[in-house]
Amino acid sequence: MKSTESTSQLEAITSLCKRRGFIFPSSEIYGGINGFWDYGPLGSELKRNVRDAWWRAMVHGREDMVGLDATIILNPRVWQASGHAEGFADPMVDCRQCRHRHRADQLCEDQGQKLIVEGKSMRLPEGIRCSNCGSAELTEPKAFNLMFKTFVGPIEDSSAEVWLRPETAQAIFVQFSNVVGSSRVQVPFGIAQSGKSFRNEITPRNYTFRSREFEQMEIEYFIRPDEAVELIHGHVVTLADNPDLSGEPQGDWGWEVWHRYWVGQRLAWYHSIGLPAESLVEYWQTGNELAHYARTCVDIEYAFPFGVQELEGIAARGDFDLSQHQKHSGKAQDVFDDELKQAVAGLDEAARSAFSEKTVAAWVAVGKSAEAAQAFVAKLFEGRYIPHVIEPSVGTDRLALALLCNAYEEQELTDSKGKQDIRTVLHFHPAIAPVKAAVFPIVKNRPELYARARQIFGDLQKRWNCFWDESGAIGRRYRRMDEIGTPFCITVDFDTLEQNTVTVRDRDTMQQERVPVSELRQYLERRIEL
Ligand code: GAP
Repeated sequence: MKSTESTSQLEAITSLCKRRGFIFPSSEIYGGINGFWDYGPLGSELKRNVRDAWWRAMVHGREDMVGLDATIILNPRVWQASGHAEGFADPMVDCRQCRHRHRADQLCEDQGQKLIVEGKSMRLPEGIRCSNCGSAELTEPKAFNLMFKTFVGPIEDSSAEVWLRPETAQAIFVQFSNVVGSSRVQVPFGIAQSGKSFRNEITPRNYTFRSREFEQMEIEYFIRPDEAVELIHGHVVTLADNPDLSGEPQGDWGWEVWHRYWVGQRLAWYHSIGLPAESLVEYWQTGNELAHYARTCVDIEYAFPFGVQELEGIAARGDFDLSQHQKHSGKAQDVFDDELKQAVAGLDEAARSAFSEKTVAAWVAVGKSAEAAQAFVAKLFEGRYIPHVIEPSVGTDRLALALLCNAYEEQELTDSKGKQDIRTVLHFHPAIAPVKAAVFPIVKNRPELYARARQIFGDLQKRWNCFWDESGAIGRRYRRMDEIGTPFCITVDFDTLEQNTVTVRDRDTMQQERVPVSELRQYLERRIEL
């Protein structure tokens, strides 16, 4: 349930975002379009900083990650292979009275119940009513595919039908063999991609949280199957071994440990960009919640004003995706692993058959076929396997919203004359803030001072997005910058001309200090960079 306080906090954030140019309703002069949002001058900077911070940490900051920038429209066979064409659907119900359309699971949850799912059939529990008109006359829930359809070329028939991608991930899988063939990467390694995704959500809601067009930042991190790890190292480290996850990844880790490692990496990154540990929750999916191919999945959730909700999903997807694309395309998706080949060469016949028997028995015990297990082992003995994957996947817009909610504060201040005032401030991490520094000449009618201030501004602008403000009292200029989260305000005054120093005012403490102009860039560098 939404509390009035949290609803009004979201309203205040929405209003600030519109007023100051973070987020606008898409095509607003024509009445907007539900589930679509535009990012204005400050919002586009914010989102870009989020994306850049992610890319720097996850791609440039690691030796085991490379990037990809794939198209939004793919060959439609991709979506047949991935299962999206068949099953990427949400349950939908319509109200027979007012014709309002609902997402059935959310309608139930909002009324404290759960949608009843039995195999492929779904039904509403007793007592569920339309949230729009209160009627109990609702249709049976039915699956609604969320992919947007369009046509390629001039003829609009089924042969020209394509979909806008509902996730960036599948493009990574379908380019896997090109990346391996061109980039000298070796398992374990990851491919990262950020870009637009599209879902025809039944009920977009909670501002940008659930939109129909949004951006994702996704990693597919490819690892050896546990059986290959065992052949190479003679054992597989599991969570029961209590491995140290704070250092470098180890070759003998099994998939469970890799998954846990990625949860830790992603949480540490959220902390580094300013989301405090206490605002994030790990939710481990269970039973029905897990996709059929997922071995495990953790949602990293954030305490939004409208409730604790998913920010990122980190799933262990086994070899499901690459195997599906191998099957549907007829193109091999396995890799050759020299270390594995060497390890197998060192085993005698008895050790090989013992390994083979053990693996077949383990596969059969979890319902897989003995033939599939034997084929897998035969490939392993040639040094080949289809890699397994850990997938950390976050929505850029959802993260930008979490950062806005986390940063927002209305402070009650009392000035030296006892006058009460409200200061609205966005406490962004400086690396995430849309504007890093504002430069103010204390007066604008002194040419020498003005010119010096322009020179300092020009110098900083070469490095960061900075803002020039010469109008109004300094206190008002500070407030305007606080409201958009600018971490540093630099005032050029008469002492600047004499001593070559400026005052730097900190957004959060509101304290000022004098900094020599010659040290200003290093001073800001130290405090801005992640
Ligand atoms: N490839 C896996 C995948 O797409 P997902 O849980 O459906 O998994 C991953 O999506 C992330 O994408 C979510 O955790 C969320 O941050 C973001 N996301 C998903 N649907 C969204 C929507 N309609 N609007 C905004 N962000 C969305």
